[in-house]
Amino acid sequence: MREDRPSSTATLIAAATVFLDGDSRVGGLVPPGAAAYCRRFIAAAPASTRAAVNALCHPALRWLARLAERSTVPGLMLHFMLRKRMIESAVTEAISRGASQVVVPGAGFDTLALRLHCSHPSVTFIEIDHPATQRCKRVTVEADQAAGGNLVFQPADLTRQTLEEALLCVPAYRRGANSVFVIEGVLMYLTYKEVSALFQVFGTHGGSGSRVVFTVMEPTAGGRIDFHNATPLVRRLLRLWREPFKSGFVVAELPAFLHKFGFVLNSVANAGNLRARYFAGFAGNPPDTARGELICIADKR
Ligand SMILES: C[S@@+](CC[C@H](N)C(=O)[O-])C[C@H]1O[C@@H](n2cnc3c(N)ncnc32)[C@H](O)[C@@H]1O
Repeated sequence: MREDRPSSTATLIAAATVFLDGDSRVGGLVPPGAAAYCRRFIAAAPASTRAAVNALCHPALRWLARLAERSTVPGLMLHFMLRKRMIESAVTEAISRGASQVVVPGAGFDTLALRLHCSHPSVTFIEIDHPATQRCKRVTVEADQAAGGNLVFQPADLTRQTLEEALLCVPAYRRGANSVFVIEGVLMYLTYKEVSALFQVFGTHGGSGSRVVFTVMEPTAGGRIDFHNATPLVRRLLRLWREPFKSGFVVAELPAFLHKFGFVLNSVANAGNLRARYFAGFAGNPPDTARGELICIADKR
């Protein structure tokens, strides 16, 4: 993570959202309203990022974006959309069951809180992210006057401040409330010790009924922590971006891990489950999606 510019991976996910929104076959899988926000975030990104994304989304150059995806992690962009759909349904279900607070550490350019806070005015949404990424999002949201009073942005570099310290800086945050913690596409960049520290906070701060919706990498059969269909190029790129994967979980170890922090595993979805859920009724052969990331829902015991 560089100090002077938004996270490359958060930008990649925003770019994928814009790109797929323009795809006649799968555009319908982009969460409604997400692409419009992501277009605005990209417009506020550094000029080089903006130029690259705009070029790759141009109809004449879309093949180049597809080629780049095929050369790295085939189906990664669509995987991002399916995981976002699943996470959104887990969050809205928790809200319908009484959650009054949604906390999103490492929110990046995700649009879940932005889109849901208007339709759930009694729920407090708190995004915590590295200042370099959040600044770019916040400037756009403030310019558009898109945030209601129940959406809070709290900047924090979580290598210098704990999640607990960051949350205590938010006056609207209520420790002990029935909460949903959403940690999407983040845990793989942390060590096991750092992941445990976050779950410790979720477990001690989340009140009765609380839920954690999170994603983790599932190691390959050979023990490598990566997308299972990644090409060798990816590892070099992640090193270049300074955002390498550091942790992964096999499904069988999740229940015991969660138990230590007071949670039970409610469900876990791999690429096959996501495909079965979101491609039912898809006309023709559904496109590839990346394999190796698990979308997990854990509920407080
Ligand atoms: C892969 S992105 C995921 C973004 C978002 N959750 C999503 O899935 O669309 C990782 C996020 O972690 C954030 N991040 C990385 N290092 C961080 C740090 N030291 N403190 C706080 N946030 C950090 C980045 O700014 C980025 O938004």
